[in-house]
Amino acid sequence: MKKYSSGCFSLICSKKTSNLLFLSTVLLAAFSCTPSLYIPTADPQTKANDLSELQEGRRLYISKCGGCHTLYLPGKHTKQEWQVTINNMATRAHLAPLEKIRIFNYLTKGM
Ligand code: HEC
Repeated sequence: MKKYSSGCFSLICSKKTSNLLFLSTVLLAAFSCTPSLYIPTADPQTKANDLSELQEGRRLYISKCGGCHTLYLPGKHTKQEWQVTINNMATRAHLAPLEKIRIFNYLTKGM
């Protein structure tokens, strides 16, 4: 007689495990790629018309600068360093003058 047939027990157990597995997969997906390539938001420091330009800058940065190497996080360089780098990389990435400004502003916001 199996009074403690494992049925119910293992069902709960395996459900828990798969929930945990699911959760950790979601968390991993959320945090593993580009951990702090910030998304511009309408915080008090960002004027309303600047927001769309910052969002544009982020979009351009990802699409124009991510092809040859991984995307460097904005905080990795100072404003002065970004100024030099963006000039070097603008030629490589074939940036239009305005695209260069948008990306630069996104990378150096708050510096
Ligand atoms: C055509 C390929 C290519 C594209 C597009 C490109 N890069 Fe680069 N990038 C490189 C190479 C190659 C290096 C490393 C060699 C060097 O520094 O010259 C580099 C290095 C860098 C570095 C490191 C510099 C350092 O001294 O630490 C940064 C930051 C950088 N790129 C930013 C950007 C940005 C921003 C863009 C978009 C505007 C961009 N890259 C687009 C090829 C590219």
